[in-house]
Amino acid sequence: MPTMQWPALLLLPVVLARKNVLFLVSDDMRPNLGAYLGPDFPSPVYPVMHTPTLDSLAKRSLLLKRAYVSQALCNPSRTALLTSRRPDTSHIYAIGPYFRKYGGNFTTLPEYFKKNGYRTIGMGKVFHPGKSSGNDDPVSWTDPYFHAPDKYAKDDLIWQAVSEEREAQQPLQDSLLADNAIKVLQEVAPKAKSGEQPFFVAVGLHRPHLPWNFPARFMEYYPLENIRLPPNYFAPVGMPTVAWHNFTNMGRYKNIKPLGLKDVGNINFTFPHNVTLELRRAYYSCMSFTDYELGRVIAELDNLGLSNNTIISFWGDHGWQLGEHSEWEKQTNFEDATHAPMMIHIPGLTDQGIVTEQFTEFVDLFPTLAEAAELPKIETCPEHSQNVTLCTEGLSLMPLVKNPNTTLKTAAFSQYHRDGDPLTGKAVMGYTMRTDTYRYTEWVKFTGGKKFVTHWNKLVAAELYDHTVDPQENYNQALNVTYASIRKVLSAKLRAGWRKAIPGGETLSN
Ligand SMILES: *[C@@H]1O[C@H](CO)[C@@H](O)[C@H](O)[C@H]1NC(C)=O
Ligand SMILES: *[C@@H]1O[C@H](CO)[C@@H](O)[C@H](O)[C@H]1NC(C)=O
Ligand SMILES: *[C@@H]1O[C@H](CO)[C@@H](O)[C@H](O)[C@H]1NC(C)=O
Ligand SMILES: *[C@@H]1O[C@H](CO)[C@@H](O)[C@H](O)[C@H]1NC(C)=O
Ligand SMILES: *[C@@H]1O[C@H](CO)[C@@H](O)[C@H](O)[C@H]1NC(C)=O
Ligand SMILES: *[C@@H]1O[C@H](CO)[C@@H](O)[C@H](O)[C@H]1NC(C)=O
Ligand SMILES: *[C@@H]1O[C@H](CO)[C@@H](O)[C@H](O)[C@H]1NC(C)=O
Ligand SMILES: *[C@@H]1O[C@H](CO)[C@@H](O)[C@H](O)[C@H]1NC(C)=O
Repeated sequence: MPTMQWPALLLLPVVLARKNVLFLVSDDMRPNLGAYLGPDFPSPVYPVMHTPTLDSLAKRSLLLKRAYVSQALCNPSRTALLTSRRPDTSHIYAIGPYFRKYGGNFTTLPEYFKKNGYRTIGMGKVFHPGKSSGNDDPVSWTDPYFHAPDKYAKDDLIWQAVSEEREAQQPLQDSLLADNAIKVLQEVAPKAKSGEQPFFVAVGLHRPHLPWNFPARFMEYYPLENIRLPPNYFAPVGMPTVAWHNFTNMGRYKNIKPLGLKDVGNINFTFPHNVTLELRRAYYSCMSFTDYELGRVIAELDNLGLSNNTIISFWGDHGWQLGEHSEWEKQTNFEDATHAPMMIHIPGLTDQGIVTEQFTEFVDLFPTLAEAAELPKIETCPEHSQNVTLCTEGLSLMPLVKNPNTTLKTAAFSQYHRDGDPLTGKAVMGYTMRTDTYRYTEWVKFTGGKKFVTHWNKLVAAELYDHTVDPQENYNQALNVTYASIRKVLSAKLRAGWRKAIPGGETLSN
């Protein structure tokens, strides 16, 4: 194994206070925030979201309006972001497997800060907890990891609005996490301010992941009469079956099961409209609850006088389908699942707010935070990087701070599999790519196990959505002859992969 050099360790005695990092994560949060509303923005944003914390953070951040996840599922997405390796490198495609066992002994984002002298403290859902991360990847943190219990999960309700009385007796999980984050910030503040030791504090909130338990008061922002049905409550015309995610799981909750619905999870299944509206309202309420708890943590940074020296990053681990395409949950390759919120506040550099619509990917956050904190640069990974502990399959986004119109990449790549386990055996892998005007997906045979092989010549199905006329991805044009020549170009670009989508990318190691 190549030995790593840590030149930054030599800089430790320098007295100048280094920048801290407050690393905020939310679960299943689609970019349904006020800050994402805009005429040129295709995602359906509920028009009156109440998300004042994230909207105001966005106003002093680099707001990445078009950030895409590597895979729309918690463990693969978080692993990709935290190791800066895509699923085909980490071999993490599912909940359960741990990258250090199946991918490589990669240096993670918090671990990199730890190696550079930071105090790294994590709480809640940052890595996917449990065996997916060997219990939160202990090597990443200088301090014991903190989890808060979810005492409402056992109610097994898909959503419930919790009264103030009940909340007072039994606080919600994310409230406990925010309380802990505040306590931790108070503890690390003195040394961070004196320049003795900077911190990297990671706070992973659980909502708006199911089950949607939230304080009842947040429902007041979303009167039922203001909630709309999904604009496209049907599966895309010409969608291949392999693209579908079966959300049968949603039918098992105690407040759904008695409805006696047949076919929950099937293509073109729709909940009764009154149920659909209630589900959407519960999700929005959870968004506002999450926003509120994040607000308490960020406010503490201000109280402690740490704001002008602390980088704040925020991301939601992937999107979520709220009935669009008659689909629910995330596990697909559609825009609604792969597109997620991400923003980075860097004091002194982004205070006026910078908005970019350039393509960015979740694997980019690791090298970006390293550069923003002035840690040694992370090199691009060689094609086979299982044995390379530190490298990136993304790019630092700092050029966007200087000029948000810089084209760093001409497409964003994601993937999702079906019909098998790509880690250990055979499966169908769906590779998808978002370009300025199209989403293009190919579902191909894939063999895992010892060698990981993508059989591009064994095509199962393809999808092509033309965002210029079909931003909701309702019409699959892959078999439309009018699109035959563009499909050829897109197919070649998809198969060439992420390195070739970087202008000048030929110079990156291959
Ligand atoms: C993995 O890396 C960590 C440090 O980053 C080290 O402590 C550990 O021994 C390594 N494990 C293996 C199996 O090499
Ligand atoms: C789902 O509904 C849409 C719109 O009615 C229709 O075009 C499509 O063929 C349906 N899909 C399936 C698999 O039934
Ligand atoms: C979804 O899963 C349920 C339960 O396993 C099954 O009955 C149903 O046929 C599945 N639907 C599709 C479209 O695969
Ligand atoms: C939805 O409407 C149906 C029929 O009108 C009713 O039986 C059901 O209780 C309603 N469900 C909800 C969740 O409001
Ligand atoms: C941050 O604010 C403190 C107190 O107001 C001040 O002493 C310090 O110089 C500021 N640091 C930066 C990097 O602006
Ligand atoms: C990684 O190291 C192992 C053990 O030394 C070796 O068998 C394997 O070929 C290496 N993989 C790559 C991609 O270099
Ligand atoms: C970026 O492009 C937009 C639209 O073309 C333009 O209005 C804006 O001035 C550009 N910004 C910079 C910093 O070049
Ligand atoms: C094929 O694409 C053209 C151009 O967008 C469109 O006018 C036509 O309706 C499409 N054909 C089908 C069968 O969808």
